[in-house]
Amino acid sequence: MSLLEIRDLRLVFDGFEGRAHVLDGIDLSVATGEAVGIVGETGCGKSVLARSLLRLNPSPPARVTGGAIRFDGADILGMDQAALRRMRGRDIGMVFQDPVTYLNPVFTIGQQMAEVLRAHEPGLSRRALRARSVALLESVRLAEAEALLSRYPHELSGGMRQRVLIAQALAGNPRLLIADEPTTALDVTIQRQVLALIADLVRRLGLTLMLISHDLGVIGAVCRRIVVMYSGAIVEDAPAEALFRAPQHPYTRGLLAAIPDLNRPEHMPTSIPGSIPDLRHPPSGCRFHPRCPLAMPVCAREKPPLIPADAAQHLVACHAVAQSMAPAEFGLSGTPA
Ligand SMILES: Nc1ncnc2c1ncn2[C@@H]1O[C@H](COP(=O)(O)OP(=O)(O)O)[C@@H](O)[C@H]1O
Ligand SMILES: [Mg+2]
Repeated sequence: MSLLEIRDLRLVFDGFEGRAHVLDGIDLSVATGEAVGIVGETGCGKSVLARSLLRLNPSPPARVTGGAIRFDGADILGMDQAALRRMRGRDIGMVFQDPVTYLNPVFTIGQQMAEVLRAHEPGLSRRALRARSVALLESVRLAEAEALLSRYPHELSGGMRQRVLIAQALAGNPRLLIADEPTTALDVTIQRQVLALIADLVRRLGLTLMLISHDLGVIGAVCRRIVVMYSGAIVEDAPAEALFRAPQHPYTRGLLAAIPDLNRPEHMPTSIPGSIPDLRHPPSGCRFHPRCPLAMPVCAREKPPLIPADAAQHLVACHAVAQSMAPAEFGLSGTPA
């Protein structure tokens, strides 16, 4: 059974300037132990999706208008505040993008570790808190963890601060770890080290991982399965190897073509023409159709379903791909000309 099951999730933000249709029917199942990457341009709804799993989108203005989220069978959208508090951190741990915003500058690392631990285990003694804090900081490969407890966030490098946030996300022994752009604020070398740490933790602790990034390279370094989002919907969901070798959706192809290829310096990366839609007035049908080289009349009318392409585990939401795949079926069910 799936650990996480998202069905037709729809979410809007109500603002003075109108209603933004941010999540447009998300379908995603994640099995225990999977490492899934979610990729897509900035603004496509990755963070809103991640926060909706923990019910952390501010409401108002956010409102879930349809669908369901189940974690290990439990109905997340139906949970009361007490159940949500129990779930956050203990079932699902989350690492946010910006270590500066999520660490408080006026408290020491030790105080902030203790606060997180106490939220999960209120009865811990000071000595136990200290020991657990040191063990957690060591588990994210921070040297001299004992000494770090009396340091303030500004005394740490960006990479160290991100490790502290990962340690905090692990404090409640979650089964699912969500890391939302965990390395975007870091330089490339540190980025690689933090990604290696996440991959290692996932293996060692048997975690299920949802790694979110706008960068396919980051996702590809850690995840065996890649989910591509465009404007609030999943357009492709495939094993990483298949996605890089044989991308199906025109948007995924565009994303891949935009990555510089170091082995082929003569190959110029090309960006996808146009820009992401205004979510208050999203395009009808497939939201990618105004930018799509394969767009057909049906694309402006109907949202394509996410269906298996060349393999059962390779899902694509594209009318053009569906048509090119199944001429026989179309012939059978269609009316003779
Ligand atoms: N609190 C909020 N209020 C209003 N709109 C929001 C809020 N949070 C996110 N959005 C909107 O939701 C859309 C998706 O945002 P986000 O999930 O942060 O994108 P991504 O993480 O993929 O870059 C954006 O248009 C953003 O402006
Ligand atoms: Mg984001």
